[in-house]
Amino acid sequence: MTEIQVNKVGKVGVLPTDKALGFGKIFTDHMFVMDYTSGKGWHSPRIIPYGGLEAQPAMIVFHYGQAIFEGMKAFKTADNRVNIFRPYEYLNRFNRSAKHLCIPEMDVEQIHDALIQLLTLEKDWVPNQPGTSLYIRPFVVADEPHLGVKVADSYRLFIILSPVAAYYATGFNPVSIKVEDKYVRATKGGLGEAKTPANYAMSLAAQQEAYAEGFGQVLWLDAVERKYIEEVGTMNILFKINGEIITPALNGSILGGITRKTVLELCRSWGLKVTERQISIEEVFEAHAKGQLEEVFGSGTAAVISPVGELSWKGQKIVINNNQTGEFAQKLFDYITGVQSNKIADQFNWMEEVK
Ligand code: COI
Repeated sequence: MTEIQVNKVGKVGVLPTDKALGFGKIFTDHMFVMDYTSGKGWHSPRIIPYGGLEAQPAMIVFHYGQAIFEGMKAFKTADNRVNIFRPYEYLNRFNRSAKHLCIPEMDVEQIHDALIQLLTLEKDWVPNQPGTSLYIRPFVVADEPHLGVKVADSYRLFIILSPVAAYYATGFNPVSIKVEDKYVRATKGGLGEAKTPANYAMSLAAQQEAYAEGFGQVLWLDAVERKYIEEVGTMNILFKINGEIITPALNGSILGGITRKTVLELCRSWGLKVTERQISIEEVFEAHAKGQLEEVFGSGTAAVISPVGELSWKGQKIVINNNQTGEFAQKLFDYITGVQSNKIADQFNWMEEVK
């Protein structure tokens, strides 16, 4: 790969204590940047001090949202090594999202090498307290100044890093979820399976209404029949019904979560019956009425595993597992975070050490 130019900060910052971390508010000293120009391809990879950008007001991303992002994590081990969780899974999804947004394909090996170099430089920013990690946010924006609606001829790729604690202020406690019946997130043929800002921008109004009504999150239903379950705001969703793990199949409008994939692999390896299929909200409410709905939980990179304590749909509410964290969600959380923090052997080769 072309050599990465490195321009270091004069004075390095200090990692705050885990109490002050929160999620996504603090950034490390450096970031990785690379440019794309039509006819030239991706070029000028560099690591520079984290800070303000040179940006033109007419950049296409500001007007028409041509952008993609990823969210991955690195962890500190007790003996001070740094491991990244499933980096290639995330980087390959980054390229799949790029395709949806007509953003030029990236060389996964090149981005991977850049990430390793950046993490090597920022090792001291990886927190080591339980529940903390270094959140890695790669993203690409169309930076060509142009007010016509078109595919841009130039882009900038960034990787920024943020030491984080739990995503939800409630931590690993059951969330109360509103099943959304007014707004829809995505439809087949749209952008639902891409990690692009539009999907998050469109979730804000529903999220605000749900917060105002006292809920912690929104569960999206399919856009056509308003019947089949899709995903939660920042997570995929899974149900444990009569011992079986059921989750909506990846149908084109749902994000293919890497934690979702991890959970399914794990459940299969534990010998559970795992089914990816259409599941309607009626079916979930019926399973609850019959006493068969054992647990509901979300999975996501930022959230890891998040138990769901209540589901409200059109004024009806069901309480799951007495609003307590279920045994199975706890087992998944303990296993995944155990491997991530190097307390449990990595038998599936999820972790890659930064060397
Ligand atoms: C993640 O889990 O990494 C996400 O993408 C959620 C994010 C929007 C905070």
